[in-house]
Amino acid sequence: MTARTLRIAMNGVTGRMGYRQHLVRSILPIREQGGVELPDGTRVQVEPVLVGRNEDKIRELAKKHDVEHWTTDLDAAIADDSVDVVFDASMTSLRAETLTKAMRAGKHIYTEKPTAETLQEAIDLARLREETGVTAGVVHDKLYLPGLVKLRRLVDEGFFGRILSLRGEFGYWVFEGDTQAAQRPSWNYRKEDGGGMTTDMFCHWNYVLEGILGQVRTVTATTVTHIPTRWDEAGKQYEATADDAAYGIFDITTPGGDPVVAQINSSWAVRVYRDELVEFQVDGTHGSAVAGLRKCVAQQRAHTPKPVWNPDLPVTEPFREQWLEVPANADLDNGFKLQWEEFLRDVVAGRPHRFDLLSAARGVQLAELGLQSSAEGRRLAVPEITL
Ligand SMILES: NC(=O)c1ccc[n+]([C@@H]2O[C@H](COP(=O)([O-])OP(=O)(O)OC[C@H]3O[C@@H](n4cnc5c(N)ncnc54)[C@H](O)[C@@H]3O)[C@@H](O)[C@H]2O)c1
Repeated sequence: MTARTLRIAMNGVTGRMGYRQHLVRSILPIREQGGVELPDGTRVQVEPVLVGRNEDKIRELAKKHDVEHWTTDLDAAIADDSVDVVFDASMTSLRAETLTKAMRAGKHIYTEKPTAETLQEAIDLARLREETGVTAGVVHDKLYLPGLVKLRRLVDEGFFGRILSLRGEFGYWVFEGDTQAAQRPSWNYRKEDGGGMTTDMFCHWNYVLEGILGQVRTVTATTVTHIPTRWDEAGKQYEATADDAAYGIFDITTPGGDPVVAQINSSWAVRVYRDELVEFQVDGTHGSAVAGLRKCVAQQRAHTPKPVWNPDLPVTEPFREQWLEVPANADLDNGFKLQWEEFLRDVVAGRPHRFDLLSAARGVQLAELGLQSSAEGRRLAVPEITL
């Protein structure tokens, strides 16, 4: 039985994230399965309204996916009384304005990260949410990945003993666009258009570190533009003004008060010699684990080999074979869809979503401080944000 239907104005659905992860992998499958089940056994159905600048594209998209409603007028969609939720996956630089208008119109909002280009804007958004009382959700997709779900479970079970450190390796080679087309949009490499590795990824790393380990207290970063010239979607050469790699070190405090050192390399100018496009290794006194997007392997203290450094001999241990795979023990659906479902339940219940605009503001803060740390060549404290 369907209790009610939520109308969701989806802005930016012609883009990579908006189309693939949010429309095709989340909202359409939720519609297809008859909505989201609520705790009382009833269901809430979703009805997307596609919003985009290009009429031909958006009409075509609506037709292709059997979506009845679409518009090129974002303001009208926001003002539409029948719309319950405004979703934004448009380019970052346009986001704060859209979210502000939507919350002022009394809409619940769900949005891609980062929520804003500056910390002040991100805090203003979080304050506006408090004032308006709407439910706001910000994509924290990495925490819903099977690999990280397993890693978090190991933390909860006390597998690691005292956690000492985390090392993350993220990235792959993004083609310059001259001989082979780039696999990411060109605005990502222009600072003036809201691009940049630090802005893009430190907001993810903040919630990953918070979600797995604890609060981030300091940041030390070196951000670089390794590839200064790229070619855009039209094959036109442009200057890559944004950083395409960020090397960060973060001091963390766990909820129990223990210090943990995390370091994460993020780069669009690295060739992958890993099992997955992102990997995190956590080392603790009683065990270690390495988690990727999907897989997670672990090694206990009792199973830890005892290598001895001897450069004169070939390696004697099959190190990679000495780890045991951590099972999922459950069917883990697409992470974007799982978070959408959780958010929609929160909307119906009229309660805040756990990954909200304040958490997102901390992500924007970490990116801003990361860039500042690099520019000034020093370690910076991460002050607590209060609304
Ligand atoms: N959660 C994640 O893992 C993740 C990954 C990548 C990107 N993102 C975020 O998603 C958002 C969209 O990124 P994307 O990679 O899908 O980008 P994209 O360039 O593929 O899509 C951008 C969308 O914005 C629209 N748009 C509106 N006005 C525009 C303008 N003036 N210029 C260009 N595009 C305009 C485009 O039509 C398109 O629908 C960004 O904020 C980005 O930070 C999140």
